[in-house]
Amino acid sequence: MERFAFIVHPLAVADVARKFNVAKYIPDTVVEKALRFMPPFTVSHITGIKSPYNTAEGWFIACPLTAKQMISLPKQVVLKKIIQAGKLAEKLGAGIVGLGAFTSVVGDAGITIAQHLNIAVTTGNSYTVAVALEATKKAAKMLGHQLSDSSLAVIGATGAIGQICALVMAKDVKNLTLVGKDISRLNNLAAKILYNTGLAAKVTTDVSKAVQTANIILTATSSLDAIIAPEDLQSGSVICDVARPRDISKQVAEQRHDVLVIEGGMVAVPGAVEFNFDFGFPLRTAYACMAETMMLALEGRYQSYSLGQELSVKQVEDIAVIAQKHQFKLAGFRSFEKEVSEEQVNRVKQAR
Ligand SMILES: NC(=O)c1ccc[n+]([C@@H]2O[C@H](COP(=O)([O-])OP(=O)(O)OC[C@H]3O[C@@H](n4cnc5c(N)ncnc54)[C@H](OP(=O)(O)O)[C@@H]3O)[C@@H](O)[C@H]2O)c1
Repeated sequence: MERFAFIVHPLAVADVARKFNVAKYIPDTVVEKALRFMPPFTVSHITGIKSPYNTAEGWFIACPLTAKQMISLPKQVVLKKIIQAGKLAEKLGAGIVGLGAFTSVVGDAGITIAQHLNIAVTTGNSYTVAVALEATKKAAKMLGHQLSDSSLAVIGATGAIGQICALVMAKDVKNLTLVGKDISRLNNLAAKILYNTGLAAKVTTDVSKAVQTANIILTATSSLDAIIAPEDLQSGSVICDVARPRDISKQVAEQRHDVLVIEGGMVAVPGAVEFNFDFGFPLRTAYACMAETMMLALEGRYQSYSLGQELSVKQVEDIAVIAQKHQFKLAGFRSFEKEVSEEQVNRVKQAR
């Protein structure tokens, strides 16, 4: 039996109240102060993962800090707490630990954390990219968009996930716009894409403008607030929102029934897996970053895998092969906590 752990954290104070009811009645600032001094703890035991080749069990470990705290507290304080969570994974007997949500965003995307642990570490970003690309292409096809005739905007393009998504998709689309906060880093990426694929990508820091000209949008920023507004989206467009917290505002779901928003992609986990923790997904499905940690354990591959800001296309391709071997697969689309229905797809198709 192989063993892994996965570190989770509350995205916002509201998530704390789901676990500790009393937090509902306490001001946010007090809850955040309490979290600051709360040590990491085991959330649940994950059982029943079974591929054709191996079995695995694992644990969810909480690193009690919100996304806002992860970004605003001193980096050393945050890293120390994530490392403590990793030490707990070591004690439980895990051979690899995955970094969920902002625990992989803070600092150098897992490199320092891995240096302080005696077990392997992965951000899960390689499989996150593989699944986001598969989901985006599938959703675009369902709506009748030809990639070779499409304009893609990648938002958060200078990030670990955005960068590699842009590099891979540049081969398939007609136009590409890279969106980020730092124009010189965007220019460097555009130069790399031109060299690798021959496509001259546009660069901008203006999210709104970029979104208006795209029929396919892939967004993966580390912004704490939604950055895509309903009025900017083209009718019939598809948006794959990998970011947690979301980049796309809830108003889009309420006001724009003519666009399709999908989350990064739900992954079906092989076997009769019991997570014993509700992270908002249907039974036996997981986020791609969780799935990457599980499949590396099933593979007995206890070496750090996705680490740092620069992932390679080969890492994404290799993890997709490992996923296929152990029977992990895209389980369908979710949009704002609900499964995407055929009716919804048809409505967007008609709007197009
Ligand atoms: N769904 C999943 O399974 C899964 C798995 C892993 C991660 N995630 C989520 O994916 C997101 C990205 O992760 P990552 O590891 O790629 O993070 P990252 O390396 O920090 O990249 C985020 C990028 O977004 C840019 N950015 C931040 N705010 C922006 C804004 N307002 N407009 C445009 N660009 C902006 C950042 O620019 P600067 O560097 O200039 O700040 C950075 O280049 C996070 O929300 C994370 O929680 C999801």
